Amino acid sequence: MADWTRVAATADVAEGKCLGVRVGKREVAIFHLPGGEFCATDNVCSHEYALLTEGWLENGCIECPLHAAQFDIRTGKAMSAPADTNLQVFEIKVEGGDILVKV
Ligand code: FES
Repeated sequence: MADWTRVAATADVAEGKCLGVRVGKREVAIFHLPGGEFCATDNVCSHEYALLTEGWLENGCIECPLHAAQFDIRTGKAMSAPADTNLQVFEIKVEGGDILVKV
């Protein structure tokens, strides 16, 4: 069973932005949605190797910087080709000024 890991301060991820962090060997993307909600997904695209936090975040979707596949960051669902495999999503919570994820 995974434990909660502190990955960043809330101040490290401005609203509407994302941040790539590493938890163990795992690349994890932290997203701060407009309105204050945080989400966490795999940061490596399910198509080939690209870090999604180097892509574009818009309307609750992240667009891969390499071939432009889009993923819903709340569910991890692959929304457009060439990706056809969903991203894993992780539990995330804010405590005080800290962001914690369960990976
Ligand atoms: S590596 Fe992300 S769409 Fe190809």
